Amino acid sequence: MPRILITGGAGFIGSSLAERMAQEKDNQIVALDDLSTGSIEKVPAARYGNIKFIKCNVNNWRDLAGVMCSQPFDYVFHYAAVVGVQRTLDNPVKVLNDLSGIRHLLFLSKNTGVKRVYFASSSEVYGESVHFPQHEEVTPLNSRLPYAIVKNASEAYLKAFYTEYGLEYTIFRFFNTYGPKQSKDFVVSRFISRALKNQPIELYGDGKQTRTFCYIDDNVDACISAFKNKLFANDVVNVGGADEITIADLARTIIRLTKSRSRIVHNAPLKEGDMTRRKPDLARMKKLLSRKPVTLETGIKKILEDTRYIL
Ligand SMILES: NC(=O)c1ccc[n+]([C@@H]2O[C@H](COP(=O)([O-])OP(=O)(O)OC[C@H]3O[C@@H](n4cnc5c(N)ncnc54)[C@H](O)[C@@H]3O)[C@@H](O)[C@H]2O)c1
Repeated sequence: MPRILITGGAGFIGSSLAERMAQEKDNQIVALDDLSTGSIEKVPAARYGNIKFIKCNVNNWRDLAGVMCSQPFDYVFHYAAVVGVQRTLDNPVKVLNDLSGIRHLLFLSKNTGVKRVYFASSSEVYGESVHFPQHEEVTPLNSRLPYAIVKNASEAYLKAFYTEYGLEYTIFRFFNTYGPKQSKDFVVSRFISRALKNQPIELYGDGKQTRTFCYIDDNVDACISAFKNKLFANDVVNVGGADEITIADLARTIIRLTKSRSRIVHNAPLKEGDMTRRKPDLARMKKLLSRKPVTLETGIKKILEDTRYIL
């Protein structure tokens, strides 16, 4: 009966993972979250008897130790973080505090018999890349922004705890992920929300920045496959979408699919943090996802069927 701790379990990706994990009745899941950007409604604890929610700040030692010392866990998914481009740029001190969270979590994991820690890192560690597609080993980690530095240093902590204490890890480097439970801090949800209200859709700069988008089911399936098959032990894997699209084309696609009257408005470019291009090398992820990924149009249509969190 695997006992699984998911930090950030009331957030978009963490709660989606918790829901899928809970469908296997043997799994005992604790979703832990401070509810800073997450929401209790996203945790399907009422629907599944094997999910428990605990409000807890992972950056606070006593709070986290209280949870991890009172009940042992076999596996930990550390997804809690300050997120969102604008929020992380505006709150760099808060972002850097997340280094306390990973340290606490790793010390407590090694001392309480956790078998492996799975970590939500980010494509942001690659920074403004000159190497495409971005490969886990070959592409340099190039960013100086606090959010990326925290993810990069957290990866270093995971490797260090494995080297010194044998605590196993898997690092997921998530690229832009989207889905129905996502908050409006992220581009797809924000654009859909604006489009459904026929409000202007604001782009930073010319909108020629490119991204790939990964539907939440692909993210969760890939991560669960790594977990179940014990793949990528003490290793890193990109988890993202394959098809590169400009942000302007994303806005046009959403306007078309929602039959919206929204206009596209160009704001000044962000001073930092808005990379010109992002495209993952997905050779490793393909070992995890044995079906075709969800296309962007299909993913957007799925969000339109459930707009609870974006309207
Ligand atoms: N969504 C993406 O496109 C994307 C891309 C790259 C990486 N990530 C990473 O994936 C993870 C999940 O992100 P998400 O998109 O679900 O965002 P989210 O904001 O929905 O989830 C993050 C959750 O962490 C919680 N949290 C924040 N600080 C906490 C703390 N100190 N203690 C306890 N809980 C805390 C928040 O309340 C929230 O519920 C994050 O680590 C993020 O950096 C996400």
